[in-house]
Amino acid sequence: MKDIYILGIESSCDDTSAAVLKNGILLSNVTASQAVHEAYGGVVPELASRAHQQNIVPVVDQALKRAGVTKEQLSAVAFTRGPGLMGSLLVGVSFAKGFARALGIPLVDVNHLNGHVLAHFIKESEDDHDQPEFPFICLLVSGGNSQIVRVNAYDNMKVLGQTIDDAAGEAIDKCSKVMGLGYPGGPIIDKLARQGNPLAYTFNKPHVSGYDYSFSGLKTSFLYSLKKWLVDDPDFIEHHKIDLAASLEKTIVDILMDKLRRAVKDTQINRVAVAGGVSANNGLRNAFREHAQKYGWEIFIPKFSYTTDNAAMIGINGYFKYLDKQFCSINAPAFSRVTIK
Ligand code: KG4
Repeated sequence: MKDIYILGIESSCDDTSAAVLKNGILLSNVTASQAVHEAYGGVVPELASRAHQQNIVPVVDQALKRAGVTKEQLSAVAFTRGPGLMGSLLVGVSFAKGFARALGIPLVDVNHLNGHVLAHFIKESEDDHDQPEFPFICLLVSGGNSQIVRVNAYDNMKVLGQTIDDAAGEAIDKCSKVMGLGYPGGPIIDKLARQGNPLAYTFNKPHVSGYDYSFSGLKTSFLYSLKKWLVDDPDFIEHHKIDLAASLEKTIVDILMDKLRRAVKDTQINRVAVAGGVSANNGLRNAFREHAQKYGWEIFIPKFSYTTDNAAMIGINGYFKYLDKQFCSINAPAFSRVTIK
Protein backbone atom coordinates (compact mmCIF):
# COMPACT_ATOMS: atom_id res chain seq x y z
CA MET A 1 0.00 0.00 0.00
CA LYS A 2 1.15 3.54 -0.75
CA ASP A 3 2.43 5.47 2.26
CA ILE A 4 0.15 8.26 3.50
CA TYR A 5 1.85 11.52 4.41
CA ILE A 6 -0.25 14.18 6.13
CA LEU A 7 0.80 17.77 6.79
CA GLY A 8 -1.10 19.20 9.78
CA ILE A 9 -1.44 22.95 10.32
CA GLU A 10 -2.64 24.72 13.48
CA SER A 11 -3.08 28.50 13.80
CA SER A 12 -6.24 29.00 15.87
CA CYS A 13 -4.80 31.23 18.59
CA ASP A 14 -1.20 32.25 19.31
CA ASP A 15 0.80 29.16 18.28
CA THR A 16 1.80 28.58 14.67
CA SER A 17 2.37 24.86 14.32
CA ALA A 18 3.00 22.33 11.56
CA ALA A 19 3.41 18.56 11.81
CA VAL A 20 4.12 15.74 9.37
CA LEU A 21 2.79 12.20 9.85
CA LYS A 22 3.57 9.04 7.90
CA ASN A 23 0.83 6.39 8.06
CA GLY A 24 -0.45 7.92 11.31
CA ILE A 25 2.99 8.03 12.97
CA LEU A 26 4.33 11.46 13.89
CA LEU A 27 7.56 12.41 12.13
CA SER A 28 7.81 16.07 13.15
CA ASN A 29 5.91 18.70 15.12
CA VAL A 30 7.21 22.26 14.99
CA THR A 31 5.60 25.10 16.95
CA ALA A 32 6.42 28.82 17.01
CA SER A 33 4.86 30.41 20.10
CA GLN A 34 4.27 34.15 20.14
CA ALA A 35 6.02 36.01 22.95
CA VAL A 36 4.64 39.31 21.64
CA HIS A 37 1.48 38.93 23.78
CA GLU A 38 3.28 38.70 27.14
CA ALA A 39 3.51 42.49 27.48
CA TYR A 40 -0.28 42.78 27.12
CA GLY A 41 -1.29 40.08 29.59
CA GLY A 42 -3.33 38.24 26.96
CA VAL A 43 -3.52 37.43 23.26
CA VAL A 44 -3.92 40.50 21.01
CA PRO A 45 -5.76 39.16 17.93
CA GLU A 46 -4.25 41.54 15.37
CA LEU A 47 -0.71 40.84 16.59
CA ALA A 48 -1.44 37.11 16.59
CA SER A 49 -2.47 37.06 12.93
CA ARG A 50 0.55 39.13 11.91
CA ALA A 51 2.89 36.75 13.76
CA HIS A 52 1.18 33.75 12.10
CA GLN A 53 1.86 35.33 8.72
CA GLN A 54 5.54 35.66 9.55
CA ASN A 55 5.79 32.16 11.02
CA ILE A 56 3.71 29.93 8.80
CA VAL A 57 6.15 29.41 5.91
CA PRO A 58 9.28 28.78 8.05
CA VAL A 59 7.32 26.52 10.42
CA VAL A 60 5.96 24.35 7.59
CA ASP A 61 9.39 24.29 5.98
CA GLN A 62 11.01 23.14 9.25
CA ALA A 63 8.35 20.48 9.81
CA LEU A 64 8.97 19.00 6.34
CA LYS A 65 12.75 19.17 6.76
CA ARG A 66 12.73 17.54 10.21
CA ALA A 67 10.45 14.81 8.88
CA GLY A 68 12.71 14.25 5.88
CA VAL A 69 9.68 14.54 3.63
CA THR A 70 9.33 16.63 0.47
CA LYS A 71 6.14 18.53 -0.26
CA GLU A 72 5.64 16.39 -3.38
CA GLN A 73 5.34 13.31 -1.15
CA LEU A 74 2.37 14.74 0.82
CA SER A 75 -0.98 12.98 0.44
CA ALA A 76 -3.15 15.71 2.04
CA VAL A 77 -3.09 18.91 4.06
CA ALA A 78 -5.10 18.94 7.31
CA PHE A 79 -5.83 22.30 8.92
CA THR A 80 -7.66 23.77 11.89
CA ARG A 81 -10.88 25.28 10.59
CA GLY A 82 -12.19 26.51 13.98
CA PRO A 83 -12.98 27.45 16.65
CA GLY A 84 -10.47 30.19 17.31
CA LEU A 85 -9.57 33.78 16.52
CA MET A 86 -10.76 34.53 13.00
CA GLY A 87 -7.64 36.47 11.95
CA SER A 88 -5.39 33.69 13.23
CA LEU A 89 -7.44 30.91 11.67
CA LEU A 90 -7.47 32.64 8.28
CA VAL A 91 -3.68 32.50 8.02
CA GLY A 92 -3.55 28.72 8.48
CA VAL A 93 -6.70 28.09 6.43
CA SER A 94 -5.49 30.21 3.50
CA PHE A 95 -2.04 28.67 3.60
CA ALA A 96 -3.47 25.13 3.70
CA LYS A 97 -5.79 25.83 0.77
CA GLY A 98 -3.06 27.40 -1.37
CA PHE A 99 -0.56 24.65 -0.55
CA ALA A 100 -3.00 21.80 -1.24
CA ARG A 101 -4.23 23.41 -4.45
CA ALA A 102 -0.67 23.98 -5.71
CA LEU A 103 0.24 20.36 -4.97
CA GLY A 104 -3.06 18.99 -6.33
CA ILE A 105 -3.81 17.06 -3.10
CA PRO A 106 -6.95 16.92 -0.90
CA LEU A 107 -7.71 19.24 1.99
CA VAL A 108 -8.99 17.92 5.31
CA ASP A 109 -10.64 20.30 7.78
CA VAL A 110 -10.24 19.62 11.51
CA ASN A 111 -12.23 20.94 14.45
CA HIS A 112 -9.68 22.28 16.97
CA LEU A 113 -11.60 20.79 19.92
CA ASN A 114 -11.73 17.33 18.33
CA GLY A 115 -8.01 17.85 17.78
CA HIS A 116 -7.35 18.27 21.50
CA VAL A 117 -9.41 15.16 22.34
CA LEU A 118 -7.69 13.03 19.70
CA ALA A 119 -4.23 14.16 20.82
CA HIS A 120 -4.40 10.86 22.71
CA PHE A 121 -4.01 9.04 19.40
CA ILE A 122 -0.74 10.70 18.42
CA LYS A 123 1.81 7.91 17.96
CA GLU A 124 5.52 8.61 18.01
CA SER A 125 6.39 5.07 16.94
CA GLU A 126 4.76 1.84 15.75
CA ASP A 127 4.84 0.32 19.23
CA ASP A 128 3.19 3.26 20.97
CA HIS A 129 -0.01 1.53 22.11
CA ASP A 130 -1.23 3.76 24.91
CA GLN A 131 -4.42 4.92 23.20
CA PRO A 132 -7.85 4.81 24.85
CA GLU A 133 -10.49 2.45 23.53
CA PHE A 134 -13.87 3.91 22.52
CA PRO A 135 -16.02 5.01 24.21
CA PHE A 136 -14.15 7.14 26.70
CA ILE A 137 -14.82 10.32 28.64
CA CYS A 138 -12.56 13.30 28.02
CA LEU A 139 -12.18 16.38 30.18
CA LEU A 140 -11.19 19.06 27.68
CA VAL A 141 -9.76 22.09 29.45
CA SER A 142 -8.04 24.92 27.63
CA GLY A 143 -7.88 28.70 27.47
CA GLY A 144 -11.15 28.86 25.55
CA ASN A 145 -13.04 25.72 26.61
CA SER A 146 -13.96 23.54 29.56
CA GLN A 147 -16.00 20.55 28.51
CA ILE A 148 -16.81 16.99 29.45
CA VAL A 149 -17.02 14.99 26.23
CA ARG A 150 -18.20 11.45 25.60
CA VAL A 151 -16.00 10.17 22.79
CA ASN A 152 -17.78 7.37 20.92
CA ALA A 153 -15.49 7.31 17.88
CA TYR A 154 -12.92 9.64 16.38
CA ASP A 155 -15.71 11.40 14.47
CA ASN A 156 -18.52 10.91 16.97
CA MET A 157 -18.31 12.99 20.15
CA LYS A 158 -21.02 14.30 22.43
CA VAL A 159 -20.55 17.25 24.77
CA LEU A 160 -22.08 16.22 28.12
CA GLY A 161 -21.34 19.50 29.85
CA GLN A 162 -19.42 22.71 29.29
CA THR A 163 -18.71 26.06 30.82
CA ILE A 164 -21.55 28.55 30.76
CA ASP A 165 -19.11 31.48 30.98
CA ASP A 166 -15.30 31.49 31.32
CA ALA A 167 -13.04 28.52 30.64
CA ALA A 168 -10.78 27.11 33.36
CA GLY A 169 -7.61 28.35 31.60
CA GLU A 170 -9.14 31.79 31.15
CA ALA A 171 -9.89 31.96 34.89
CA ILE A 172 -6.32 30.95 35.78
CA ASP A 173 -4.90 33.49 33.31
CA LYS A 174 -7.09 36.30 34.67
CA CYS A 175 -6.32 35.51 38.32
CA SER A 176 -2.62 35.44 37.45
CA LYS A 177 -3.01 38.83 35.77
CA VAL A 178 -4.67 40.43 38.84
CA MET A 179 -1.78 39.09 40.93
CA GLY A 180 0.62 40.75 38.47
CA LEU A 181 2.25 37.42 37.65
CA GLY A 182 2.28 37.55 33.86
CA TYR A 183 0.84 35.70 30.88
CA PRO A 184 0.03 32.92 30.29
CA GLY A 185 -0.81 32.41 33.94
CA GLY A 186 -1.30 28.63 33.84
CA PRO A 187 2.37 27.55 33.96
CA ILE A 188 3.22 30.31 36.49
CA ILE A 189 0.40 29.36 38.88
CA ASP A 190 1.30 25.69 38.45
CA LYS A 191 4.93 26.30 39.45
CA LEU A 192 4.06 28.47 42.46
CA ALA A 193 1.29 26.13 43.58
CA ARG A 194 3.76 23.27 44.04
CA GLN A 195 5.40 25.16 46.91
CA GLY A 196 2.22 26.48 48.58
CA ASN A 197 -0.54 25.29 50.91
CA PRO A 198 -3.70 24.45 48.92
CA LEU A 199 -5.85 24.76 52.04
CA ALA A 200 -4.66 28.26 52.99
CA TYR A 201 -7.62 30.08 51.38
CA THR A 202 -11.08 29.17 50.15
CA PHE A 203 -12.84 30.76 47.22
CA ASN A 204 -16.46 30.54 46.09
CA LYS A 205 -17.40 27.44 44.13
CA PRO A 206 -20.19 27.63 41.55
CA HIS A 207 -23.58 25.92 41.71
CA VAL A 208 -24.41 24.96 38.15
CA SER A 209 -26.77 22.20 37.06
CA GLY A 210 -25.83 18.97 35.29
CA TYR A 211 -22.28 18.57 34.07
CA ASP A 212 -21.85 22.26 33.21
CA TYR A 213 -19.14 24.46 34.63
CA SER A 214 -18.82 28.12 35.57
CA PHE A 215 -15.61 29.97 36.42
CA SER A 216 -16.56 33.64 36.29
CA GLY A 217 -17.75 33.68 39.93
CA LEU A 218 -14.45 32.22 41.11
CA LYS A 219 -12.56 34.95 39.26
CA THR A 220 -14.67 37.63 41.00
CA SER A 221 -14.35 35.93 44.40
CA PHE A 222 -10.57 35.80 43.95
CA LEU A 223 -10.41 39.46 42.95
CA TYR A 224 -12.59 40.70 45.86
CA SER A 225 -10.73 38.58 48.41
CA LEU A 226 -7.42 40.01 47.19
CA LYS A 227 -8.72 43.58 47.36
CA LYS A 228 -9.84 43.01 50.97
CA TRP A 229 -6.51 41.49 52.04
CA LEU A 230 -4.50 44.20 50.26
CA VAL A 231 -6.13 46.87 52.43
CA ASP A 232 -4.39 45.48 55.54
CA ASP A 233 -1.18 44.47 53.80
CA PRO A 234 -0.24 46.21 50.52
CA ASP A 235 2.38 43.46 49.94
CA PHE A 236 -0.12 40.68 50.59
CA ILE A 237 0.33 39.11 47.14
CA GLU A 238 4.12 39.08 47.37
CA HIS A 239 3.99 37.58 50.88
CA HIS A 240 1.40 34.92 50.09
CA LYS A 241 1.64 34.18 46.38
CA ILE A 242 2.53 30.51 46.72
CA ASP A 243 -0.44 29.84 49.03
CA LEU A 244 -2.74 31.93 46.82
CA ALA A 245 -1.63 29.97 43.74
CA ALA A 246 -1.99 26.60 45.50
CA SER A 247 -5.46 27.46 46.84
CA LEU A 248 -6.66 28.81 43.50
CA GLU A 249 -5.37 25.73 41.69
CA LYS A 250 -7.01 23.40 44.20
CA THR A 251 -10.37 25.19 43.84
CA ILE A 252 -10.26 24.90 40.03
CA VAL A 253 -9.16 21.25 40.11
CA ASP A 254 -11.91 20.40 42.64
CA ILE A 255 -14.57 22.08 40.48
CA LEU A 256 -13.36 20.20 37.39
CA MET A 257 -13.10 16.81 39.11
CA ASP A 258 -16.48 17.02 40.92
CA LYS A 259 -18.44 17.19 37.67
CA LEU A 260 -16.16 14.76 35.89
CA ARG A 261 -16.59 12.19 38.67
CA ARG A 262 -20.35 12.52 38.36
CA ALA A 263 -20.23 12.08 34.57
CA VAL A 264 -18.05 8.97 34.89
CA LYS A 265 -20.38 7.48 37.51
CA ASP A 266 -23.54 8.18 35.49
CA THR A 267 -22.19 6.96 32.14
CA GLN A 268 -20.34 4.03 33.76
CA ILE A 269 -17.48 4.65 31.34
CA ASN A 270 -14.36 4.53 33.44
CA ARG A 271 -11.82 5.19 30.70
CA VAL A 272 -11.09 8.85 31.37
CA ALA A 273 -8.80 11.20 29.47
CA VAL A 274 -7.77 14.81 29.96
CA ALA A 275 -6.79 17.17 27.15
CA GLY A 276 -6.13 20.83 26.33
CA GLY A 277 -3.64 23.38 27.68
CA VAL A 278 -4.80 23.11 31.31
CA SER A 279 -4.12 19.35 31.23
CA ALA A 280 -0.45 20.34 31.62
CA ASN A 281 -1.32 21.33 35.17
CA ASN A 282 0.37 19.16 37.78
CA GLY A 283 -2.45 19.51 40.33
CA LEU A 284 -4.96 18.27 37.75
CA ARG A 285 -2.69 15.43 36.65
CA ASN A 286 -2.28 14.34 40.27
CA ALA A 287 -6.05 14.49 40.80
CA PHE A 288 -6.43 12.15 37.81
CA ARG A 289 -3.90 9.72 39.31
CA GLU A 290 -5.69 9.82 42.69
CA HIS A 291 -9.04 9.14 41.01
CA ALA A 292 -7.51 6.23 39.11
CA GLN A 293 -6.43 4.68 42.42
CA LYS A 294 -9.58 5.46 44.34
CA TYR A 295 -12.25 4.77 41.72
CA GLY A 296 -10.45 2.33 39.41
CA TRP A 297 -10.44 4.73 36.45
CA GLU A 298 -8.24 3.85 33.50
CA ILE A 299 -6.69 7.25 32.87
CA PHE A 300 -5.04 8.85 29.84
CA ILE A 301 -2.83 11.88 30.43
CA PRO A 302 -1.16 13.41 27.36
CA LYS A 303 2.53 14.16 27.02
CA PHE A 304 3.19 17.81 27.94
CA SER A 305 4.00 18.70 24.32
CA TYR A 306 0.52 17.62 23.19
CA THR A 307 -1.47 19.49 25.85
CA THR A 308 -1.25 23.03 24.47
CA ASP A 309 -2.00 23.87 20.84
CA ASN A 310 0.00 21.79 18.38
CA ALA A 311 -0.29 20.55 14.81
CA ALA A 312 0.36 16.87 15.65
CA MET A 313 -3.20 16.59 16.99
CA ILE A 314 -4.53 18.20 13.80
CA GLY A 315 -2.43 15.82 11.72
CA ILE A 316 -3.75 12.68 13.43
CA ASN A 317 -7.35 13.89 12.99
CA GLY A 318 -6.52 14.59 9.38
CA TYR A 319 -5.10 11.09 8.97
CA PHE A 320 -8.29 9.44 10.30
CA LYS A 321 -10.49 11.62 8.09
CA TYR A 322 -8.22 10.96 5.09
CA LEU A 323 -8.66 7.19 5.54
CA ASP A 324 -12.45 7.78 5.44
CA LYS A 325 -12.08 10.13 2.46
CA GLN A 326 -13.66 12.97 4.43
CA PHE A 327 -12.19 15.81 2.38
CA CYS A 328 -13.28 19.41 2.38
CA SER A 329 -13.90 21.91 -0.37
CA ILE A 330 -11.51 24.73 -1.15
CA ASN A 331 -14.48 27.04 -0.46
CA ALA A 332 -14.84 25.88 3.16
CA PRO A 333 -14.78 29.00 5.39
CA ALA A 334 -13.06 29.22 8.78
CA PHE A 335 -15.34 29.17 11.84
CA SER A 336 -14.57 31.29 14.87
CA ARG A 337 -17.20 29.43 16.90
CA VAL A 338 -18.00 25.79 16.40
CA THR A 339 -18.59 23.03 18.88
CA ILE A 340 -17.53 19.41 18.92
CA LYS A 341 -19.45 17.16 16.56
O1 KG4 B 1 -5.05 24.49 24.66
P1 KG4 B 1 -4.39 25.80 24.78
O2 KG4 B 1 -2.95 25.91 24.38
O3 KG4 B 1 -5.13 26.90 23.95
C1 KG4 B 1 -6.48 26.93 23.75
O4 KG4 B 1 -6.93 26.24 22.80
O5 KG4 B 1 -7.15 27.63 24.52
O6 KG4 B 1 -4.59 26.26 26.29
C2 KG4 B 1 -4.04 27.43 26.79
C3 KG4 B 1 -4.40 27.52 28.27
C4 KG4 B 1 -4.01 28.86 28.88
O7 KG4 B 1 -5.11 29.35 29.62
C5 KG4 B 1 -2.85 28.46 29.80
O8 KG4 B 1 -2.70 29.32 30.93
C6 KG4 B 1 -3.26 27.08 30.21
O9 KG4 B 1 -3.75 26.50 29.02
N1 KG4 B 1 -2.12 26.31 30.74
C7 KG4 B 1 -2.06 25.83 32.00
C8 KG4 B 1 -0.81 25.20 32.15
N2 KG4 B 1 -0.15 25.31 30.95
C9 KG4 B 1 -0.98 25.97 30.11
N3 KG4 B 1 -2.95 25.90 33.01
C10 KG4 B 1 -2.60 25.34 34.17
N4 KG4 B 1 -1.40 24.73 34.40
C11 KG4 B 1 -0.49 24.64 33.42
N5 KG4 B 1 0.67 24.04 33.63
